[in-house]
Amino acid sequence: MFKFILYMLVVLTIACASCRQKTTEPEQQPPEDEWPFDPPSTEPLDAFEMNAKIGRGLNFGNALEAPAEGDWGIVIRDEYIQAIADAGFNSIRLPITWPTRSQSTAPFTIDSQFFQRVDHIVETALALGLTVVLNNHHFDELNENPQEHRNWLLALWEQISGHYSDYPDELFFEILNEPHGAFNNNAAIWNQLARDALALIRKTNPYRMVVIGPISWNAIDRIPTLDLPEEDRCLIATFHYYSPFQFTHQGASWAGDDANSWLGTPWMGSPNERKAITDAFDTAVAWAQQHTRPLYLGEFGAYEKADDNSRYRWTDHVARSCEKRGISWTYWEFGAGFGVYDRDKNEWRPLLLKALMP
Ligand code: BGC
Repeated sequence: MFKFILYMLVVLTIACASCRQKTTEPEQQPPEDEWPFDPPSTEPLDAFEMNAKIGRGLNFGNALEAPAEGDWGIVIRDEYIQAIADAGFNSIRLPITWPTRSQSTAPFTIDSQFFQRVDHIVETALALGLTVVLNNHHFDELNENPQEHRNWLLALWEQISGHYSDYPDELFFEILNEPHGAFNNNAAIWNQLARDALALIRKTNPYRMVVIGPISWNAIDRIPTLDLPEEDRCLIATFHYYSPFQFTHQGASWAGDDANSWLGTPWMGSPNERKAITDAFDTAVAWAQQHTRPLYLGEFGAYEKADDNSRYRWTDHVARSCEKRGISWTYWEFGAGFGVYDRDKNEWRPLLLKALMP
């Protein structure tokens, strides 16, 4: 009898517990249309802590910076974003050519359907815990003639920053990818334009992280030409690294007529080869320390025509050299010519993945 009562008590307890679970469960689910993200901070954020959130990441190259998504082979799929999160990466950088999605004359309105597409990718990534660096890629007109197209850049950022002002702090803005052309050898013009765009962004996004890099295609040795507004502490300084260029860009059609003659260039990881990289990074770090700015390597990678073992050695050395110095990074890129992911086979390229995520 005692055993029976005990048995009934256990059965009843389990039944009640599952019944409680069932009745409370629906209340715990947020309504489907509820915004799932935290609002952006209402006070300044620590740029070093925020930079650490970029951590190890990937560029979604060749997708949204093509004239139309898919033109250069890759359409971003939600599964790709999931795969990036599952592999343990912390962030994505989203190269976007905004000028081809906006009017080319005032008021330079950005296409609302395109905004929706970007929203979807950004929100999918954020929901998976990835930090997102939203950039402004291939603004050729501006690089050719900054004065003439200044208002276009400002109008783009006024719209983009207004559009995303309620998004969480894990969305970062990058004002312009690789300023070059007329900006080269004229850092003052770039510094002023970056300040003007930043001032506009700050009207609606007072503490959002904004990424700014130097002239000459974000060259590491041009970092000292950056003149960031002293009072704004929510900034991250960025640079790109593709040296030795004959190794990383061997056989790359866009790298000039000589690129085919570089085919077969290895990177063996000799002490001198390694030192060339770490010396450049140490110089950048010295600048960053002097100015109390966090550093972010927004792009680095070796093209698929280089041999796999050299690519592995170089990528591993660059990534580890960053990590030792507190430099966050996003590899160039996910699934195209430098890709760490094989989209035909739907799988990671093991050597490159190991170099990035040892
Ligand atoms: C360019 C890409 C190029 C990559 C490596 C990026 O900044 O936008 O088109 O493939 O650099 O050269």
